[in-house]
Amino acid sequence: MYRTHNLNQLGASNKGEKVVLSGWVNRRRDHGGVIFIDLRDRYGLTQIVSDPVEFKEAHDVLDMARSEYVLRIEGTVRLRPEGQANANLTTGEIEVLVQSVEVLNASKTPPFEIDQDKDVSEDLRLKYRYLDLRRNRLKSNIVLRYEIIKMIREHMDQDGFIEVETPILIKGTPEGSREYLVPSRIYPGTFYVLPQSPQQLKQLLMIAGFDKYFQIARCFRDEDQRGDRQPEFTQLDVEMSFIEEKDIMKLNEDLMMKLVGNFAKDKKIKTSPFPVLTYHEAMNKYGSDSPDLRFDLEFFDINDVAKNCEFGVFKNVLAGGGVVKGLKVDGGGKFTRRELDELEESAKIYGAKGLANIIVQGDEYKSPIAKFFKKEELDKIKEIAGAKDGDLLLFCADSFDTACESLGKVRLELGKKLGLIDEDEFAFCWIVDFPMFEKNEETGAVSAVHHPFTAPKNPEDLESNPENCLAKAYDLVLNGTEVGGGSIRIHSPEVQKKVFSLLNISDEDAEHRFGHMLEAFDYGAPPHGGIAWGLDRLVMLFAKEPNIREVIAFPKDQKAKDLMLGAPSQMPDEQVEELSIKVIREEE
Ligand code: AMO
Ligand code: AMP
Repeated sequence: MYRTHNLNQLGASNKGEKVVLSGWVNRRRDHGGVIFIDLRDRYGLTQIVSDPVEFKEAHDVLDMARSEYVLRIEGTVRLRPEGQANANLTTGEIEVLVQSVEVLNASKTPPFEIDQDKDVSEDLRLKYRYLDLRRNRLKSNIVLRYEIIKMIREHMDQDGFIEVETPILIKGTPEGSREYLVPSRIYPGTFYVLPQSPQQLKQLLMIAGFDKYFQIARCFRDEDQRGDRQPEFTQLDVEMSFIEEKDIMKLNEDLMMKLVGNFAKDKKIKTSPFPVLTYHEAMNKYGSDSPDLRFDLEFFDINDVAKNCEFGVFKNVLAGGGVVKGLKVDGGGKFTRRELDELEESAKIYGAKGLANIIVQGDEYKSPIAKFFKKEELDKIKEIAGAKDGDLLLFCADSFDTACESLGKVRLELGKKLGLIDEDEFAFCWIVDFPMFEKNEETGAVSAVHHPFTAPKNPEDLESNPENCLAKAYDLVLNGTEVGGGSIRIHSPEVQKKVFSLLNISDEDAEHRFGHMLEAFDYGAPPHGGIAWGLDRLVMLFAKEPNIREVIAFPKDQKAKDLMLGAPSQMPDEQVEELSIKVIREEE
């Protein structure tokens, strides 16, 4: 037998009991010839102690044991001496006097300390992920992830949903991002792809009559990595029949509030029901379709004042159909030149050509652009902004999108810089009324903002003015992160064909790529819709972690590499040739 107890179980009531324990050496201390070891397992720590006189053989083994050795000990539970109890440990009242020890395995000195939460380079942590997972931070994140997913499954089950697995090897039918290809050996020159999401399959399940589907689904996207993106990630994927937007939103809020109530009790929820913003409102006020609503800092417009001013940049932008948007920073008048330059640099990341500023000084204005405005115009701007002495006003003049996005970036920087963000708050919101289509300004290509199966809110506009078409889509946002997104789907074959044609997908192409969907729609598709949550992102926010790698057991790094396994890797030539694939290897 390896153990009678886990290492979080023993307490004062076990005094005098003989026990068997197994675990890793977390920390070893030598106090005047007596060895103290904190033995660790998944559950906790228990202090074990040697007696160099009475149990010399055991003592000698503990003396040579080092960090991360795996031990099995037999011994007796005793109370720690007066004043030695450790209130931070569930087993802090006792220790186990070791009578015999077996070294189950030795360990090399680990590349970083397991028993301490010191900063270690992320590459090292990823290479030795199994050691990093021994540390408390990751261990508790992985447990939290499991608990959250377990509660989701229970909730969905109680609500009448069933979980259905959908295939990982599917047909290439791009939804938006680049797909991972898997070559077929049996059919040379052909490929499966890994699903970006189970989107089409869950819709086919609705056509099959399953009515309420969910899945904890793995998704694969070959896109550039960022803190909140991984090439493979996990969704809570949901689809329902005979429902409308509000039904899906309600269901999501109920589940979310249950999770918050269980796993984020300490968080202040700003409002429930969650506020609903249109896409235009979110962009117009906060410069983002996933605004962080933990702080205000809303934009204002000075188009009417600026169109008559003498500042060429503003006038020209307005004449060209653009906008001049502003942001007021309370007390920002004290920012240094350098701080203002840094904010301007942030704005430029999103394409702004500049970030003009005006500082209110009593009844006067200090600004490089003040000379282009009449006093009444500056007073009017001050009034629109609601500014007072010592405030800073920042402006972006550009196309609506660029001005909003650039100022949105500045808003976020200011939120952090000025300490406006309450880390103990959860601010949820829904974003609705997304445009159906977006146009790439460079290539002119039209694509679906959500995906090509999303239903239009105003289908009558599809023919006459598709630019104005809004989608029956909704995103769920938490603290500035998009944690979920979904839509009501098209269930009419005619509307679906029309949308394909607006996306410049020819009949032939549509048939080739989505023939299975179009055909299925001909056999009685129910009205349906759904949503998918980015579970990694959600767990990240619940765990208060800065990126999703911290809540995934074995993540890829920011360059999509698995540093532990060494993937991706070259494969033996024979194995590649079997796939009828020729590899062009880069010259060393
Ligand atoms: P969407 O593409 O918006 O919708 O994805 C849903 C949610 O998944 C998360 N997410 C990611 N998380 C980590 N790494 C990534 N690379 C990544 N990409 C997306 C986000 C996002 O909100 N089939 C549709 C859903 C539907 O319409 O029902 C879909 O996949 O949190
Ligand atoms: P310039 O005349 O280019 O030196 O610009 C004068 C001021 O206007 C600087 O503070 C710039 O940051 C700002 N500015 C220039 N272009 C824009 C723009 N498109 N929107 C807002 N401010 C701008």
